[in-house]
Amino acid sequence: MRPAVIEPLTQSDLAQVVEIETESFPEPWGEDKFLQELKLKFSYFFTAKSGAEIAGYIGLWHAADEGNIINIAVKKSWRRQGLGKQLIDFILEFSRAKGIKDVYLEVRSKNLSAQGLYKKCGFEACYERQGYYVDDSAIVMHKKVGQP
Ligand SMILES: CC(C)(COP(=O)(O)OP(=O)(O)OC[C@H]1O[C@@H](n2cnc3c(N)ncnc32)[C@H](O)[C@@H]1OP(=O)(O)O)[C@@H](O)C(=O)NCCC(=O)NCCS
Repeated sequence: MRPAVIEPLTQSDLAQVVEIETESFPEPWGEDKFLQELKLKFSYFFTAKSGAEIAGYIGLWHAADEGNIINIAVKKSWRRQGLGKQLIDFILEFSRAKGIKDVYLEVRSKNLSAQGLYKKCGFEACYERQGYYVDDSAIVMHKKVGQP
């Protein structure tokens, strides 16, 4: 795997992050949405960087002893090289250090690549939320922090 360093998201990262977001999602967040996240006390966003290039990012919301992964994407040219797993492993370790006990996420039922990533990282499907996305249902997945 090409090495990438994980760092907190900053405002100067947003142009590259929005490019990745746009190539990754049918309804991408714009810069304004990421700026809003930077102001929230319970929101933690990190980028994976190789020099000046942003290769991916991940965001977690923290409430009490629960975390929710609210966004993760890897630049197309970096996919299938282990970076998604590196980002998830990082956020699980970050969660453990913050005293979080359970991490949840929602994933489109049709998004089998992301589900494959989450399963590889030890997440299990809990239940399906019908109508969660405009065009798809969501699968809620969970992992106990600190367990393999
Ligand atoms: C999902 C995503 C983050 C995965 O990132 P990645 O860096 O390619 O993931 P990794 O290389 O760490 O892959 C880890 C595992 O995930 C699974 N996986 C990843 N991409 C896959 C694909 N296209 N098809 C099937 N399984 C896949 C595999 O189990 C893989 O392990 P393997 O390579 O040993 O088979 C990336 O495809 C992406 O950004 N997609 C668009 C945004 C998105 O869907 N985000 C999730 C929203 S819930």
